[in-house]
Amino acid sequence: MNILGINAYHGNSSAAMVCDGQLVAAVEEERFNRVKYAAGFPTQAIRYCLNEAGLTLGEIHHVAVPRNPYARLGTKIFYALRMPSFARERAKVLGKFQGIRGALAQAFDTDPNKIRAQFHRIEHHRAHLASSFYCAPFERAALLSADGLGDFASTMWGTGSGSRLEIEGAVAFPHSLGLFYSAVTQYLGFLKFGDEYKVMGLAAYGQPEQMDLFHDILRFENGSGRNGFKLGLDYFSHHRTGPEMSWAEADKTPALGKLFSEQMERRLGSARAADGTLLERHRNLAASLQARLEEVYLGMLRKLGERTGLKAVCLAGGVAFNCVANGKIFEATPFELVYVQPAAGDGGLSVGAAFFVWHQILRNPRSFVMDHAYWGPEYSPDEIRRAVDSTDLGQKGCVVCELQEPELIRRAAGIIADGKILGWFQGRAEWGPRALGNRSIVADPRRSEMKEILNRRIKHRESFRPFAPSILAEAAGEYFEKSHPSPFMTLAYPVRPDKREKIPAPTHVDGTGRLQTVTREANPRYHALISAFADLTGVPVVLNTSFNDNEPIVCCPEEAINCFERTQMDALVLGDFLITRHAE
Ligand SMILES: [Fe+2]
Repeated sequence: MNILGINAYHGNSSAAMVCDGQLVAAVEEERFNRVKYAAGFPTQAIRYCLNEAGLTLGEIHHVAVPRNPYARLGTKIFYALRMPSFARERAKVLGKFQGIRGALAQAFDTDPNKIRAQFHRIEHHRAHLASSFYCAPFERAALLSADGLGDFASTMWGTGSGSRLEIEGAVAFPHSLGLFYSAVTQYLGFLKFGDEYKVMGLAAYGQPEQMDLFHDILRFENGSGRNGFKLGLDYFSHHRTGPEMSWAEADKTPALGKLFSEQMERRLGSARAADGTLLERHRNLAASLQARLEEVYLGMLRKLGERTGLKAVCLAGGVAFNCVANGKIFEATPFELVYVQPAAGDGGLSVGAAFFVWHQILRNPRSFVMDHAYWGPEYSPDEIRRAVDSTDLGQKGCVVCELQEPELIRRAAGIIADGKILGWFQGRAEWGPRALGNRSIVADPRRSEMKEILNRRIKHRESFRPFAPSILAEAAGEYFEKSHPSPFMTLAYPVRPDKREKIPAPTHVDGTGRLQTVTREANPRYHALISAFADLTGVPVVLNTSFNDNEPIVCCPEEAINCFERTQMDALVLGDFLITRHAE
């Protein structure tokens, strides 16, 4: 039984293939068309998933689409009547959804009537919940999905047991934790789609001194039987104009219209321009925003934990990328186990929709756990060799050598320990927005200057944003105050005070680190690299940042070589090849 999940005409368009209950492939379209957060129809992602599974379109039994136009129809009609332009925009997108069969046929040059697969429309947040629970190693768990907006809801919670999901409640438009965060992110002058994580990084530099105001902007409703929140709508404009989102086109990064109102500026002061100076006031507002999000998000989780009595929780939706809040779940709620799959945001909807069909609709038992993130394209040694041979790296002063694994690992670890910056390209590409040791740039965490060097030479990004540590899973408790697995960099923990000066580069200003715990089982070669670095230095940690420079993470070897040449990376490991800029 083959199920193709398609997240289309929405941010992070993606495709996933589930065959007989096992995930075979999953990838976002942005990795192929090189447009960050690309929306549109994920033609190349679907083609990749079919190839990886060795299937043709005719062999797909079910197509799962994470969008249900009939969900919350009453609310949709209510707002459509009040906001005709919004209604027109929705109708356009809806039209595209109705045409998914046609788009699929067109992309694969076939007759729509020849596609025998049955099509399923899965409500956005049900697909989010499914993307987490059906990939988690838990038989039973509480579930929470929170994002900006999807199928007119922003939040949904419930429980999962075996192959069944039970929905307990939801928060509908216009109230939204995601839009709350996005609106203040815009107010702070970060206007690009996906900039929220920058503000999360900035928050650590400020003091939450505006909590009274933020209690008014986001109101927690924690009364008997309720588990929700409301926005102080005066501060927002999306409920009057509709959230202006443009994300139907594949060749453009989605854009979000202005979300905050004049009232926000009246109460908080004038908004910061994108090129304006970052003042202490802005840092404090970012800290207040993060603190208020944590109060409400963790408050909801606490209630969910108390009500269900469950020890495990599965999270999804864009808000579940808030690793700082996630790291506090263990103290602030009854939950002892947390699972956030690597594509917790909308990219993950293709996986969620496909598993929803397999378990919830077709009632099949569970047989899959996503315990690693490597579900994307892989390139054979021959393809890598061809990519290396087709460049004139040798003539540009680079030294290229092909090595056996032990020597490759030994040399690579030595390069990192020498303070050099190493590109590290191996195996299948990561699913989701984090580089987790297959498309990574790796550096020495012991050198505090490494952060500034990486920003200046490679990443060209804001100086306040932290870099992340990859740590041998077995050493996590030695360096961090918690050791609960964080294989996908979705949890931030305090670094133990006595270890902060050992790994200053990936320790954020507030003493936390958004760690990746690396096991030998999940990624043997990356585990070996960190182990070799530990043998040399006594530190079982490397700094890990994504292999890119203000673009989607590199996917194929040619893109890796191109990024290596463009930036001032010192060395590149590409499969079994080691490329260094100068003779060592
Ligand atoms: Fe979503």
